[in-house]
Amino acid sequence: MFSVDSVRLQFPSLARRQNGKAIIYLDGPAGTQVPQSVANRVSEVLIHHSANRSGKFITSHEVDEIMDDAHRAAADLLGADDPRSVAFGPNMTTLTLQFSRALAKTWKRGDEVVVSRLDHDANFTPWILAAKDAGASVRMIDIDPIDATLCMKSLANQLGPKTRLVAVTAASNAVGSLTDIPTIAKMVHEVGAELFVDAVHYAPHRRIDVNRWNCDYMVCSAYKFFGPHIGILYGRPERMQELKPYKLRPSPDSIPGRWMTGTQNHACIAGVTAAIDYLASLAGTGTSRREKLDLAFNDIATAETHLITHLIEGLQRIPGVKLFGISDADRLHERAPTVAFQIAGISSADAAAALGEQGICGWHGNYYALPLTEALKTEPEGMVRLGCMHYNTQDEVARTLDVIQTIASAVA
Ligand SMILES: Cc1ncc(COP(=O)(O)O)c(C=O)c1O
Repeated sequence: MFSVDSVRLQFPSLARRQNGKAIIYLDGPAGTQVPQSVANRVSEVLIHHSANRSGKFITSHEVDEIMDDAHRAAADLLGADDPRSVAFGPNMTTLTLQFSRALAKTWKRGDEVVVSRLDHDANFTPWILAAKDAGASVRMIDIDPIDATLCMKSLANQLGPKTRLVAVTAASNAVGSLTDIPTIAKMVHEVGAELFVDAVHYAPHRRIDVNRWNCDYMVCSAYKFFGPHIGILYGRPERMQELKPYKLRPSPDSIPGRWMTGTQNHACIAGVTAAIDYLASLAGTGTSRREKLDLAFNDIATAETHLITHLIEGLQRIPGVKLFGISDADRLHERAPTVAFQIAGISSADAAAALGEQGICGWHGNYYALPLTEALKTEPEGMVRLGCMHYNTQDEVARTLDVIQTIASAVA
């Protein structure tokens, strides 16, 4: 098991102070902190390997190698067999909007597309727009409002012979609920439809495995797992080759290049490789990068479960705090370490500002998880959101709980 002290030494930002106190970063669900090794790699590529691809000269060959390495690293992170099944782009939202347009070309009037109320808007609105373009209709999977989890009965009710695509998250970026992707994939494939998974919030917390999940497509974003702002799209290679992307004529027609519009951000994509190598380095043993990632994510899950247990127990003890999502101690394996809550008598924006004044970075509002906040009826007020990462400590959780206690008592 990694030591949190040695992990923290690798993240220079964790040493930053505000008014004499160490800053506590619980804003990871909106973007994590970045280890020195990732920043070094981005800087090195910018300084020494700045060139466009496929030229007949040294720096261009180096950039080709950097990109091939990144596809291999991303395939390792996602558990994909073929590095060509992974495309990079500016962020998950742009990749999803682009991909949804191409997929919608294969739909027709009368087809059905299914989205979920547990999702971030980036895995919701692109599909509604794409369905509209194709004349397809949209069906919604409800949540169970008691614990803010995906309602599997509602999913079963939405599926049928007309279903073409189901878009669902692997983990909610608001309340942390995990979904059972292998079971969902089985249900979706039984009706002959395809499954598109948003793994953005899942990626820093648990091991993605597109083979085990048996999903058709998957997206995630490296700035949520200790890397730079780069989006990642996985698709079954045969489908990625067969679908028709919106692309320029001279750009490659083979995968993955046909999905990677325009010149890529090579330096930051090299940073994605470094972030994946950082994650693998958390494992004490293991031979291949995949094996190390398996071990590292086991340890990350263990460390995060301790943190979230402490945070949830503490929040439950503070009068005036209303928690959303799974809070039973024996169900914590069904959630990521991300909590959303309201404090009676204070808006989520004011509560987040009060935390911010004490050097605690958290979030407020809906964090674009609008389908969920509408379903939970927390609009327009929203909820405070705090998310733990493996670099957070029990002391940070304790100091955060003290501050929340003070905020709640001041407005009681
Ligand atoms: C669950 C989830 N999906 C999608 C997104 C959008 O990702 P990106 O910023 O890479 O477009 C986010 C960003 O917060 C997210 O948390």
